[in-house]
Amino acid sequence: MAKPVLFVTRRMPPAVEARLLRDYDARLNPDDRVYTANELAAGADGADAMLVCSTEKITAPLVARLPDRLKVIATFSVGYEHIDIAACRARGIVTANAPGTMTEATADIALLLMLGAARRGWEAQSMVRRGDWKGWDTMMLLGIDLAGKRLGIFGMGRIGQAVARRARGFGMTIHYHNRSRLQPADEQGAIYHADLDGLLAVSDILSINAPATAETRRLLDARRIARLPDGAIVVNTARGEMIDDAALIAALKSGKLRAAGLDVFAGEPNLDPAYLDLPNAYLLPHLGSATVETRDRMGFMALDNIDAVLAGRPAPNAIAG
Ligand code: DGY
Repeated sequence: MAKPVLFVTRRMPPAVEARLLRDYDARLNPDDRVYTANELAAGADGADAMLVCSTEKITAPLVARLPDRLKVIATFSVGYEHIDIAACRARGIVTANAPGTMTEATADIALLLMLGAARRGWEAQSMVRRGDWKGWDTMMLLGIDLAGKRLGIFGMGRIGQAVARRARGFGMTIHYHNRSRLQPADEQGAIYHADLDGLLAVSDILSINAPATAETRRLLDARRIARLPDGAIVVNTARGEMIDDAALIAALKSGKLRAAGLDVFAGEPNLDPAYLDLPNAYLLPHLGSATVETRDRMGFMALDNIDAVLAGRPAPNAIAG
């Protein structure tokens, strides 16, 4: 029997690619280019399923061009802001994501960003590599302790809670804002703030861990930055679109904020170039889920979702939207 046709829009880890080549008539993207809408429509022609990443914009006009036989779009990501879920549903296409696959890896990166920002990681690396390190001295590159600081977590889902677990080990007090308050067993002593402004006022370090939605777009703007304590640090491992870049850059320049640690950017990889000139911006290239184990889990979960739908079963991680 002919295998179902699977259109895979980006390069996959070797173990994931081996499984999909075993089970599917797979259309791969050997150059790993980010496809245009026309290329996505052409690649999907005659396909039963698509495996996409957060780099592919699955917009309503594109969904209208997808073939009738396409049953499922599974994304190799937790976030699904790049997919028009309603448009897919209207065409009878199931959408699925990969929740829980990257919790620990992303929380690790949040702590790396906190440390990099608080301990001046970029300035220190640059000094050593430029050969400008003249030896130990009492005042060189002083940062701040994480211990004793208040960590404000915006978005206390799986990743937010994993960040909290780590931060407790660093001696931080945890505050959070979430759509709904967690059960005491999940709070683990974290202090709930029913409104975001209340959280901001006590966040010596703010970690953004909420999903990108229309409501969270540019949420951290000049007004909300002004609510943070002077000298606060902002860390973002969620989505760059949640920050007003001009406002954050102004606050990093003025000293209102001590530093920022950013793994995600609006319009990435074309981040606002002003960040590149800021020594107090500790910048990473969207590495949250970039471990071998995590990327395998993401790919296997995407394939589990596709397998289920093509076998006539519900996708285990269907997006309710
Ligand atoms: C996610 O899954 O949302 C990661 O950021 C990769 O896009």
